[in-house]
Amino acid sequence: VAPAGAGSESPAPPVCVLVLGMAGSGKTTLVQRLTAHLHSQNSPPYVINLDPAVHELPFPANIDIRDTVKYKEVMKQYGLGPNGGIVTSLNLFATRFDQVMKFIEKRQNTSQYVLIDTPGQIEVFTWSASGTIITEALASTFPSVVVYVMDTSRSTSPITFMSNMLYACSILYKTKLPFILAMNKTDIIDHSFAVEWMQDFEIFQDALNQETTYVSNLTRSMSLVLDEFYSSLKVVGVSAVLGTGLDEFFVKVSEAVDEYEREY
Ligand code: GTP
Repeated sequence: VAPAGAGSESPAPPVCVLVLGMAGSGKTTLVQRLTAHLHSQNSPPYVINLDPAVHELPFPANIDIRDTVKYKEVMKQYGLGPNGGIVTSLNLFATRFDQVMKFIEKRQNTSQYVLIDTPGQIEVFTWSASGTIITEALASTFPSVVVYVMDTSRSTSPITFMSNMLYACSILYKTKLPFILAMNKTDIIDHSFAVEWMQDFEIFQDALNQETTYVSNLTRSMSLVLDEFYSSLKVVGVSAVLGTGLDEFFVKVSEAVDEYEREY
């Protein structure tokens, strides 16, 4: 496991891996598995949990938003529902993120990776001011990669697949950061069908032709738009439960960071 710039005289700065994805896609399980994998390679990561509403974390987090903000208290204090409580908790945490940056900086020479788990509902992070503040703070200081986790087993319909891809594409263009699509849950279904859809427009159209809904017309047009997005996208199939695909995952992370650094 070698991050970008490994082998140079001074230790390379840690690579921040920001794990995003729809609710239930497997973000937390993937962070747990990546953490275990890095430990087994004698390269313990620095792990940050940004989900204030998670009940139990299956990995030891170095920084846990729940230690700073109690989201149920935030709900009561501000008279909010669960989603408002989560957004406000993240906002409160973002105001202190400079302190988190200092902690990461202190770990510069000991951790090659910083793994960041984000709230269950993706839009809480991707379309909030606090998500933007946190992402920009990390990316302006450390090489950073966005990992979009897709539940492959729930993307077997061309329409749900396309919805996922549109979401991924919007995050790529919003963050403008190195980007990896992690097709998770490959223990349930192999991700080759999705890769084929991305590589061969006609095969995707054939799958779409089975659908007769109005939305399939929209999807047909959108898939042309997404062609360019697909051509530069780094894709890796993983199973967070089994721990498969992780070596390839880290190769893609290094490639993404290297390419980004060459470009900018
Ligand atoms: P929230 O933050 O709660 O929205 O979910 P998440 O994206 O963090 O997903 P989480 O890791 O909690 O996983 C959701 C469910 O998917 C759990 O039941 C996991 O056991 C299951 N899961 C995660 N990864 C895999 C995988 O690779 N294979 C299988 N079969 N199940 C998985």
